[in-house]
Amino acid sequence: MRLPKSVLAVFPVLFFIGLLLGNLFFFKTQEQGQKLYAQHCASCHMEKGEGLANLIPPLAEADWLAQNPEKVACIIRYGQTGEVRVNGKTYNHPMPANLQLSDTEIHNITNFILSNFGNKVSKRTFEQITKDLRTCH
Ligand code: HEC
Repeated sequence: MRLPKSVLAVFPVLFFIGLLLGNLFFFKTQEQGQKLYAQHCASCHMEKGEGLANLIPPLAEADWLAQNPEKVACIIRYGQTGEVRVNGKTYNHPMPANLQLSDTEIHNITNFILSNFGNKVSKRTFEQITKDLRTCH
């Protein structure tokens, strides 16, 4: 099939619009994660994820996150009680649930903390997050 030149000229334009939308989407999800972190997490885990003394474990450069990325979604939704060991220190203080957050919001917060505060843990896909959330107990 032969297309007129004027029609062909549209393809690069569409390609760049596609790139632009892709980037906007990336920054939007990253930005939503950051905003939600500030609203729902920073009061305890602090602005840079450093945690607080013996009460709140750090998220910054946290070995726990690198070892348990599949548990983050459940902790965000249902909170957590009992002992947890992070970077060689034991914490035992309840973290409250966030039942109002949607799967998408939890996805964005999870990826925000996995790839910020000095963490370089692979991001989780939305499918992985919904699967993680089905296995909470
Ligand atoms: C009211 C204070 C509080 C808030 C708000 C809070 N947490 Fe926590 N979080 C804690 C405490 C305390 C623990 C340790 C729980 C334990 O001892 O079992 C914890 C543990 C964790 C852990 C596992 C340990 C670690 O440091 O890696 C993760 C991950 C986590 N929180 C992420 C979050 C995220 C994300 C949010 C926001 C959606 C959040 N928390 C909001 C207090 C809080």
